[in-house]
Amino acid sequence: MQVFKHIHELRSQISVQKVRGKKVGLVPTMGALHRGHLELVSAARRENDVVVASIFVNPTQFNNPEDLKKYPRSLETDLQLLEAENCDFVFVPEENEIYPEEPLTKIQFGYLNSIMEGAHRPGHFDGVGLVVGKLFNIVQPDRAYFGKKDLQQLTIIKKMVHDLNFDIEIIPYPIVREKDGLAMSSRNARLNDEERKEAPAIYRNLELISERLSKQETSFEAAKKSFIEEVDRHSTLCTEYIEVVDTKTLRPVENLGEGKNVSICVAVFAGNIRLIDNVSII
Ligand code: PAJ
Repeated sequence: MQVFKHIHELRSQISVQKVRGKKVGLVPTMGALHRGHLELVSAARRENDVVVASIFVNPTQFNNPEDLKKYPRSLETDLQLLEAENCDFVFVPEENEIYPEEPLTKIQFGYLNSIMEGAHRPGHFDGVGLVVGKLFNIVQPDRAYFGKKDLQQLTIIKKMVHDLNFDIEIIPYPIVREKDGLAMSSRNARLNDEERKEAPAIYRNLELISERLSKQETSFEAAKKSFIEEVDRHSTLCTEYIEVVDTKTLRPVENLGEGKNVSICVAVFAGNIRLIDNVSII
């Protein structure tokens, strides 16, 4: 496995592989790797000749400076984990490699940026769009892997690839969970014992209401209300939003029509740590 800090070195190694006709898979991450990330790498390993992972805690996507400062970092362990997954190249740029000067380009996502994460984390997707666009141009992968854990991010990136004609196939990957159902996240490392104990209530209640909705035992409004009541009854948990949306367009839906794939998306604070999760009802 080779580790690169500089764009030009990574680019020249990738172009050697590309002229040999090798297919390149990219897994962008912010590090503090867990099994969720590693399953993306393993999927990329199965489907490509060359696997590139990036580790970059992207400052432009943090709307909360405290969150950026406290974001977990564990580069040495991350590199060992990637090596064990047979990753070929790891890109670990410093901030000034990616942002040598203030970028003025902004990719706007219209409606997709006005709801859920976009509404609650102003500027977040501007930073995500910018850095993922840069990574796509730096690596020029054939395929790029993204988790459904960040459903809105996945949707925005698919739209960006389509709108800007990036010649890249976006591969969505299912949410990887702890045994108790909590969606794996780098931020889980920051939960205290009490928060960690209560956090699985998020997925438990998502499953519960999704089952009731699919059996048409409840209305959307009642289901949302019951999620908030049940989750917020835990002393460390506080729901920020719950939305029921069309999985493809992220537009709100009013009912489970024929053939509709609907997702329930939530953001819940466990103490000061903001967690997101979603489930889909087919
Ligand atoms: P990060 O949060 O490190 O996540 C990197 C990738 O791993 C994302 O595609 C995310 O959806 C996926 N992922 C995280 N937890 C997962 C889980 N439990 N199951 C499945 N996939 C999971 O998302 C980002 O970084 C950044 O926004 C990035 C795209 C790298 C741009 O900076």
